[in-house]
Amino acid sequence: MKQLRIGVLGCGTAAHFHASACRPSQKIKLVSAYDANYENTKKLADIYHLTASRNYQDILKSNDVDAVLIALPHFLHSDLTIEAAEAGKHILCEKPMAPTLEECDTMIKAAKKAGVKLMIAENHRFLPAHKLIKKVLNEGLIGIPLLVRGYEGVDETPDLSIPEHWKGSPEKAGGGVLMDAGVHKFAILNWMLGDVSLAYCWLAKQMIKLENKADDNAMMFMKFESGCIGEIVVSDTVFSTPNNRLEFYGTEGTILEDHSWKKPVQIFSTVKEAGEKRYQWYSPDVEHEPFPMYYIISFRHEDEHFAECVLEDKQPVFTPEEAKKAVAMVLLGYLSAKTGKTATLEDLEKVASTKGTRSIIEGLEKISI
Ligand SMILES: NC(=O)c1ccc[n+]([C@@H]2O[C@H](COP(=O)([O-])OP(=O)(O)OC[C@H]3O[C@@H](n4cnc5c(N)ncnc54)[C@H](O)[C@@H]3O)[C@@H](O)[C@H]2O)c1
Repeated sequence: MKQLRIGVLGCGTAAHFHASACRPSQKIKLVSAYDANYENTKKLADIYHLTASRNYQDILKSNDVDAVLIALPHFLHSDLTIEAAEAGKHILCEKPMAPTLEECDTMIKAAKKAGVKLMIAENHRFLPAHKLIKKVLNEGLIGIPLLVRGYEGVDETPDLSIPEHWKGSPEKAGGGVLMDAGVHKFAILNWMLGDVSLAYCWLAKQMIKLENKADDNAMMFMKFESGCIGEIVVSDTVFSTPNNRLEFYGTEGTILEDHSWKKPVQIFSTVKEAGEKRYQWYSPDVEHEPFPMYYIISFRHEDEHFAECVLEDKQPVFTPEEAKKAVAMVLLGYLSAKTGKTATLEDLEKVASTKGTRSIIEGLEKISI
């Protein structure tokens, strides 16, 4: 089988997850790497036997590279995507797509114009546990979802505590934890439950009080167009292994998910389609392992899907338009937090068409309840 040859732009944490997930892969061959910090380039290149490049232009010009993986700070995603598209390279770009909706639009336009594939690396869309939940919801095993709760907690305090580090900086990251982790949750909840119409959000700066850093903890309440209500809680200051949880409460049952469980999804259904499992908790078998393996599992499925899309000329199941929508949800939350009021999609559209969505992330470092 032909392998997709990928050049890696950015050799930090995410690049190591991708490289580890793709070793070995029949569909992917990572060939070269570039990072502004050459030590980081060398480290990734040495571990995974890649060519260490001193500049990214060599990777974009190379005939031995079919696609690039952009694993860089958020403010670089759109410019690098545009340059890569113009160089005729397919693009797998880490989440969030970009900090503003305008940048997302330019990325979509550039990929379309160049006729290359663009997929945002949203690993939560490729986690088998999440695919299972989507199937259970589609089968109506919990009836109509009424209430959803989502959580992601990690410890980002070492990087966030460095004033010049890009993480948590509105300018370089597009915000704090809601942009970094919240975007994962919005990408899957929009997919599972449909669009959100309004939101109310609280941002807090509890451990990271640096003047140039934004939210380290955030809560967002949402109403979906379906009528389902929900809350998302995300934290960058959790001193245990990274974890994610989801809870869905429906008219006929419940789904609980916790990534630290060996069997991460528990279902309770009262509908007759549940058969002999009706009225009891059960946990279907699904490919999963607690941290760090669920990262590796989801990255592998994600990256191999991207490779398949390029090699077989298919459209990614997670489209750039959906990735943009997840960014729009983050911005909806930030708009609410800045105004102290519930924000609707109409409010967001109004800001986008008058001041532009960068105006929402500007000054976020000053917002905390
Ligand atoms: N899907 C996930 O679970 C997951 C996990 C971690 C990170 N991410 C995403 O991956 C991306 C990178 O995050 P990370 O945690 O790897 O960050 P990181 O800080 O660990 O790595 C970023 C790398 O970019 C390099 N860099 C910074 N500015 C540069 C420039 N101008 N040109 C070239 N290189 C530059 C840095 O030297 C660093 O090596 C982000 O979009 C982040 O949200 C996703």
